[in-house]
Amino acid sequence: MNTPEAMNLPDKTNLPDKTSLPDEQRRIVLARRPQGVPVEDDFRTETTAVPSAGPGEVLVRTVHLSLDPFVRGMLTGRDLGHPPVHPGELVPGRAVAQVVETGEWVVAETGWQEYAAVPAATLRPAVTPPGVPRTAVLGALGMPGLTAYAAMTRLLRPEVGDTVVVSAATGAVGGTAGQLAGLAGARTVAIVGGPDKCRVAVECLGYAAAVDRHDPDWLDALAAACPDGVDGYLHMAGGAVLEGVLDRLAVGARVVLCGLPEHANETGRTVLPAGAVMRARAVVHGLVVHDHQDLRPRFADRVGRLVAEGRLRLLEDVHHGLDAAPAAFRRLMSGRNVGKTIVQVAPDAAS
Ligand SMILES: NC(=O)c1ccc[n+]([C@@H]2O[C@H](COP(=O)([O-])OP(=O)(O)OC[C@H]3O[C@@H](n4cnc5c(N)ncnc54)[C@H](OP(=O)(O)O)[C@@H]3O)[C@@H](O)[C@H]2O)c1
Repeated sequence: MNTPEAMNLPDKTNLPDKTSLPDEQRRIVLARRPQGVPVEDDFRTETTAVPSAGPGEVLVRTVHLSLDPFVRGMLTGRDLGHPPVHPGELVPGRAVAQVVETGEWVVAETGWQEYAAVPAATLRPAVTPPGVPRTAVLGALGMPGLTAYAAMTRLLRPEVGDTVVVSAATGAVGGTAGQLAGLAGARTVAIVGGPDKCRVAVECLGYAAAVDRHDPDWLDALAAACPDGVDGYLHMAGGAVLEGVLDRLAVGARVVLCGLPEHANETGRTVLPAGAVMRARAVVHGLVVHDHQDLRPRFADRVGRLVAEGRLRLLEDVHHGLDAAPAAFRRLMSGRNVGKTIVQVAPDAAS
């Protein structure tokens, strides 16, 4: 068990210097609603005064900014439970940040800006086990990791000898999910975009096989990788991939619909192939991570331990400087990221 002393709680030796707090900061706002995959011109950088904390708020400095696909839905008002972002408004985003007053490391909804005044009640400590970088709380030990954990432990429930297929398999959710399925004894097969990601999937994340969804012969490769059919499938790719995998389901398979990138980017619709589901007597779950918050303590303990012991690897796609955020977001939403997408906005005192 981790003791609070052993975790990355406030490091008082690294307090930010308040005398060096600038008057101005940069922030990135939505310039116009994206059409399809977002591009750099959909965003605009502005210089504004550093916000001041109102009653119940604290001022934080954004250090590691998380870029997440659900933000694409927010930019057009289609994300579950989030109000739409209008042109001229700050782009939302979660970050590992440092409280200016105390130096405490927290997870905060800063948005794409250098400083944010945020309600103190919404902050969570950015706690990681010893030896684990704090950026892990944005990936394997954060919302994407909880998504993977809920998918595997609650819905797909892989057993020893099962064949489990994961799409977007080297991404923030997929990279964690594939490793969890492998640790449960399943034979894991990655579906990814491109030969480089195939290599990463097998060599870094321990998938038994990897299939490149851009390869015209990818269905043959999938059939070769899953000779006994697919017992579990975590879906986070386009409709053609869903159709291809569901055609190979074994009887009694479990399918989890987790990500629909064509819906997010408004580039297409994904249709569930009903015949394939019926033939396999399959169960299809829709997953929304917010429904699984009760798993958080068990997830943090179990996955935290796996990462600390080096049994679950972290993969990050890191970019530097706030100005890199729009291009990094384009890269994420067009499927070119490898691992959890993070923008390092300011130096991390510990790095
Ligand atoms: N349901 C929930 O509660 C929940 C929670 C978290 C995340 N999600 C969803 O899960 C998915 C993964 O999230 P993440 O944060 O881990 O992102 P990610 O996997 O790091 O990045 C997205 C990946 O999607 C893949 N992709 C497949 N088909 C694509 C297409 N047609 N266009 C663009 N990208 C495509 C790309 O990987 P390849 O090129 O390798 O295929 C890309 O790298 C996202 O769709 C996200 O919205 C859902």
